[in-house]
Amino acid sequence: MRRARYHAHGGPEVLVVEDADIPQPGPGQVLIRTEAIGLNYVDVQLRRETSPDSIWFRSLPGTLTGDVVGTVTAAGQDTDPALAGTRVAALLEDGCAEYVVADADWLASVPAQLSAGAASMLPTVGAVASGALRAGRVGHPDTVLVTAGAGAIGHLAVQLARQLGAGTVIATASSRAKLDFLKELGADVAVDHTQPGWAGQVRAAAPGGVDVALEAVGGEMLHESIELLAPFGRVVAYGASAGDLTSVPVRNLFALKTVTGFSLLAWRAAAAEQARASIAELTGLLETGRLRAAAETVLPLAEVVQAHRLLEDRAVLGRLLLVP
Ligand SMILES: NC(=O)c1ccc[n+]([C@@H]2O[C@H](COP(=O)([O-])OP(=O)(O)OC[C@H]3O[C@@H](n4cnc5c(N)ncnc54)[C@H](OP(=O)(O)O)[C@@H]3O)[C@@H](O)[C@H]2O)c1
Repeated sequence: MRRARYHAHGGPEVLVVEDADIPQPGPGQVLIRTEAIGLNYVDVQLRRETSPDSIWFRSLPGTLTGDVVGTVTAAGQDTDPALAGTRVAALLEDGCAEYVVADADWLASVPAQLSAGAASMLPTVGAVASGALRAGRVGHPDTVLVTAGAGAIGHLAVQLARQLGAGTVIATASSRAKLDFLKELGADVAVDHTQPGWAGQVRAAAPGGVDVALEAVGGEMLHESIELLAPFGRVVAYGASAGDLTSVPVRNLFALKTVTGFSLLAWRAAAAEQARASIAELTGLLETGRLRAAAETVLPLAEVVQAHRLLEDRAVLGRLLLVP
């Protein structure tokens, strides 16, 4: 089988597609034949990072995470044999391959009629969008700000915020195409954060302040999101795509502001039933078309270098899919 790896840190060109043996599922695991792989932006950060002190540093050879959609072809010891033949989706640390091994615990069941792109949203990006909005206690008629709103997680968060009762949804992105995409998704206001004075545009749209900001860019974007909060407003920090894990001075929170965090793995560990219920809920929303899963950029596994160029250039609307 073929799989993607990197044997040096660096730009997209360090990625290689190589031959390998099909892995064997261990106890509690299944083997999945891959139908599609949803790529994650964090792998750009992991691939580039050379400092062992960084949270994004990974030892070599490097693997790519993936939200794999596929069919179970074998169940390991102590694993339900009835899983064989079922269509599933799973988040994997080593997910960019024609066959992958996954823990049976967190397999999302995928209905036959769901597209691979939509199914790829279930394990991670949909769950993060849903969990982070809940961590921010979004309700009616909140004003919600979603930074990187045209991204894999962001484009789902924009739509889910509305479904949770948000009165006004404001989202940021970096290009005309992304701003148009945000409006298509139902954002009331789409703001180009690369333009000076972008925060002023958010203020104009939310004169009383923002009730909840979903923030995964980090650095200045996180600080600005806190500035934009209304009294009792909440920022949910769930990533740092710009690579700046900045600190927040406590004095910036005195005006009745809260910064909370969200991690999918922490959620699964702390509230497993809630996390599983969110996947079931997302499946229903995707099946009935109430949630649009944008995964129109599809490339073959052999073009993983080009795929990572697009991710790194921030040129993807929604999610990028690889197919074996
Ligand atoms: N907490 C968790 O459990 C969890 C799980 C999965 C992922 N994450 C995190 O969630 C974030 C989003 O993941 P994703 O896969 O959905 O990625 P994504 O939003 O599809 O891609 C990242 C986007 O961030 C924006 N960005 C990147 N660098 C930036 C910079 N220097 N300044 C401003 N904006 C920048 C870009 O959007 P624009 O071009 O529009 O600016 C870029 O397209 C990542 O930080 C990831 O690590 C967290």
